[in-house]
Amino acid sequence: MSKIHAAITAVHGYVPDYVLTNKELESIVDTTDEWIISRTGIKERRILKGEGLGTSDMAVHAVNGLLKKRGITAEEIELIIFCTTTPDMPFPASANILADKIGAKNAWGYDLQAACSGFIFGLSTGAQFIESGKHKKVLVVGGDKMSSIINYQDRTTCIIFGDGCGAVLLEPNSEGNGVIDSILRTDGAGRQYLHQKAGGSARPASHQTVDNQEHFVHQEGQAVFKFAVTNMADVAAEIMERNQLTSEEVTWLVPHQANKRIIDATASRMGVGAEKVMINIERYGNTTNGTIPLCLWEWESQLKKGDTLILAAFGGGFTWGSVYLKWAY
Ligand SMILES: CC(C)(COP(=O)(O)OP(=O)(O)OC[C@H]1O[C@@H](n2cnc3c(N)ncnc32)[C@H](O)[C@@H]1OP(=O)(O)O)[C@@H](O)C(=O)NCCC(=O)NCCS
Repeated sequence: MSKIHAAITAVHGYVPDYVLTNKELESIVDTTDEWIISRTGIKERRILKGEGLGTSDMAVHAVNGLLKKRGITAEEIELIIFCTTTPDMPFPASANILADKIGAKNAWGYDLQAACSGFIFGLSTGAQFIESGKHKKVLVVGGDKMSSIINYQDRTTCIIFGDGCGAVLLEPNSEGNGVIDSILRTDGAGRQYLHQKAGGSARPASHQTVDNQEHFVHQEGQAVFKFAVTNMADVAAEIMERNQLTSEEVTWLVPHQANKRIIDATASRMGVGAEKVMINIERYGNTTNGTIPLCLWEWESQLKKGDTLILAAFGGGFTWGSVYLKWAY
């Protein structure tokens, strides 16, 4: 019997309407359009506006679009893995909230927290449920409302992040397409460079934590950059070597969109030309868990059955990894 792989059989995404341009940021913090573009590659990002709207509200749009495309109902979904660093609330899981909002009455689900690597951790985890035969339809959602944890007075972080969400459906495939391999890594020692200090059990919210601005993203950009540029490139090269893939055989690199310079370094390490790299950072910035599914969504019409994709990410934690998958449709 041929091995069952977990194939992506549908993808959809959603970004909010509001466009926060570099020009507008120039009026908020001491920065310039030219600096932001040259250091990050970002021109604009989307922001979710509206009282009471959270990450799950973007996911509803992404998932409903996906279900429509695939021609299935929410009741057919068996498992929802919601990869996010900005859940609607500490508990219950955003997966539960999403299931309720879309009417996925037969699904169980949970949230997965691995910062910017969350989506590939979730994809790899979701694939196990398909490969084992436990489930036939698994939704992997990746999204963040980063604007909810960004300090718009901190020019080193507010220029980078944006809001957005994407989702993929995983189903069994016996033609050899789907998730073939993954390499996932964490190093908790990196937490000092990129974290949200308060709001967890170690430092619950208080007047003091709010006054100290400890509910915002704290990032030491240069340190994060150094780890990201090395580890993301290394892990992408490692998965190619392990699977004896040449750069010619790679159809697409789908990188986490943290910084254009990190993406370029990864592509160069893999020997992959710019024409094979999915990049939309200039329009969305870093949407954390949203970047990779949003790329897949935007490039969907160019993807062909059997295409070889290498997904690679690096994020807070630190977390990093890569996934090798063959496109199934
Ligand atoms: C954040 C980041 C864009 C900053 O770029 P950088 O080239 O490392 O810039 P530095 O932090 O060295 O700062 C260089 C100078 O620019 C200044 N600067 C920082 N942000 C600025 C901004 N928005 N506008 C203008 N100047 C800025 C700094 O204050 C510093 O000035 P100084 O030399 O007078 O002290 C970059 O470090 C980065 O992308 N890091 C990784 C981020 C990442 O991947 N995070 C997510 C992981 S998933």
